[in-house]
Amino acid sequence: MLHQNNKITIQPKFDYKLLFKNFLKYNKYLSKKYLFSSGRMSLYYGISSLQKRLNIKKVLLPSLICEEIIPVFKMLGIEIIYYQLNENLEIDYNYIEKCVKEDNYFVFIINYFGYPSNWKKILELKSKYGFMIIEDNAHSLYGKYNEKKLGLFGDISFTSFRKILPLLTGSELKINIKHERIVLNKLTKFPSKDEFIYLFRNFKPSFLNPNIKKNNYTDKIDIEKCQMDYLSYKIYTNNIFDELYIESIRYKNFLYWKNFLINSDLKYFNFIKNKFCPYVFPCIAPTQQEKEYWINWGTKNNISIINWPKLPNSENYYIDNNQLKNIIFFPVNHHNDISLNANYYAYN
Ligand SMILES: Cc1ncc(COP(=O)(O)O)c(C=O)c1O
Repeated sequence: MLHQNNKITIQPKFDYKLLFKNFLKYNKYLSKKYLFSSGRMSLYYGISSLQKRLNIKKVLLPSLICEEIIPVFKMLGIEIIYYQLNENLEIDYNYIEKCVKEDNYFVFIINYFGYPSNWKKILELKSKYGFMIIEDNAHSLYGKYNEKKLGLFGDISFTSFRKILPLLTGSELKINIKHERIVLNKLTKFPSKDEFIYLFRNFKPSFLNPNIKKNNYTDKIDIEKCQMDYLSYKIYTNNIFDELYIESIRYKNFLYWKNFLINSDLKYFNFIKNKFCPYVFPCIAPTQQEKEYWINWGTKNNISIINWPKLPNSENYYIDNNQLKNIIFFPVNHHNDISLNANYYAYN
């Protein structure tokens, strides 16, 4: 028998109701949008389209980055150079300046956790040196910086739908400069084995080990299978997601954790007070033990608390700030109003 698992997860669970509601509708063709299966695919096709015109062979990547991104650059023959960030995620602009003065680079900027980077400063540098910016909005589907939507700051930008929306796959690539149109021979694909596993990750079929293999997206990308899966495409193109609602519940959950953890030893990031649409509530554990304590606390309380990211292990990779290795994520996913469960939670 299948029964739904009530764990509070970082990413929303796939929404079967939305699928039934939208399944028989005629597929809309969003002709102006570039849709791909994942952030990585968008990134691959975005850079490829720029490379047709520009000869850029190096990228400046932040040292706080997940290893999943790395294969994209390797496949495109782009050398990776890492720049550093302090514990408030402020970029080492001097280092970036030193590099872009001397050579042509893609500069990769992440709007971490849904929170915008310092675009004023980044664009000032860009106007001085004229490098290409890749804007990573994998965590930031709905966000603004000074009233301008995220996604419009980089020369290219990409999102990752499944992190915020109840879908299996999907990502929008935006190319904000003149380019040759990317044409794909197919719009969608049949869900892959891994995507099917992901589809059922919230159920515990009694005939299987309850620990279904987690959504383990591979370390290589198969660029032929770059389309969104058919089921997610159906939902995405036919359904209007309520951005304001999603933002308000997520932000409420964010504030819940902020308040709940106030007397813990966890260190918060210094976000300015404005409301935004968070991907998670992130904080830094001061020690390895503290990190493990909270991950175990999550397991006991049926809440996914994870250490992020899985850092790259390539030879030239390094991260100056050891604190950034101990980031943990608390879920704020809008399918749960965490304050409603709040009475159960206690720590120490
Ligand atoms: C900051 C960041 N960028 C990019 C990605 C890649 O997105 P996707 O999993 O959709 O390829 C991830 C997550 O894996 C991420 O956390």
